[in-house]
Amino acid sequence: MTTTTSTAGADGIYVLAAHPHWRDSRVNRQLLAAARAVPGVQVNDLYGSYPDFSIDVEAEQARLAKARLLVLLHPIQWYSAPPLQKLWFDDVLSYGWAYGRGGTALQGKDCWLVATTGGPDASYHPQSYNRYFFDAFLPPYEQTAALCGMRFLPPLVFHGARSASDAEVAAHVDVFAQRLGSYPQWPELEELDACVACPVPETDRPAELDDADKAASAAFYSATARGLASMSAANEENNNNNEKGTA
Ligand SMILES: Cc1cc2nc3c(=O)[nH]c(=O)nc-3n(C[C@H](O)[C@H](O)[C@H](O)COP(=O)(O)O)c2cc1C
Repeated sequence: MTTTTSTAGADGIYVLAAHPHWRDSRVNRQLLAAARAVPGVQVNDLYGSYPDFSIDVEAEQARLAKARLLVLLHPIQWYSAPPLQKLWFDDVLSYGWAYGRGGTALQGKDCWLVATTGGPDASYHPQSYNRYFFDAFLPPYEQTAALCGMRFLPPLVFHGARSASDAEVAAHVDVFAQRLGSYPQWPELEELDACVACPVPETDRPAELDDADKAASAAFYSATARGLASMSAANEENNNNNEKGTA
């Protein structure tokens, strides 16, 4: 399990850091290190904790129940969260726990998206290649939080993660660390309304997955993860052989 907690300080903050390839990360890797250095913050490297995509739902719910602020830290991939973060939503935010009848575990907590994009700020514009302002991609996050009774705090987004200067990256990492250290004393929080209530009628509740369905789903993800890992190992070996061949 790749979770870390430092003692004393910003209690009640749970950072979920999801990056499929930490080795290639320029910005999120530094944000992860900064979060780990803030006393009291609990940090979970999702891909490190669940390389087989088999999420420990009970453990995750226990961590969330203790937290006051959930931080979603990841690169934007295809205008959304990386796949393991998405699976975490699917598995952990269950009916009757996070939302729906009796699902009050997250009511009154805060949710904060801290994301990076490859596209620079100017690319998120109707006249540029991303065609929409970045805010247009936020409703799925915002409504996920709202359905669970969480306030969705103004996101901290770093655009142009590949092209930004080292100084810009360092300044951003500082802002993130400072924010974690000072939560919940953020001026803008005073102006934020409480989360709107989103009761889900009984008639709309999802079908229960039985144990066989759950086992089949876990086996599918596990097999997929193993397949991806071996493809990636084979590719790496191929690349190495090619490099040797052309040397
Ligand atoms: C599969 C994949 C999908 C991506 N999709 C987007 C995207 O939709 N929008 C965007 O601006 N950047 C996209 N990117 C770029 C990443 O967001 C960018 O590389 C990342 O934020 C950089 O952070 P890092 O230095 O921590 O890796 C994508 C990258 C990958 C690998």
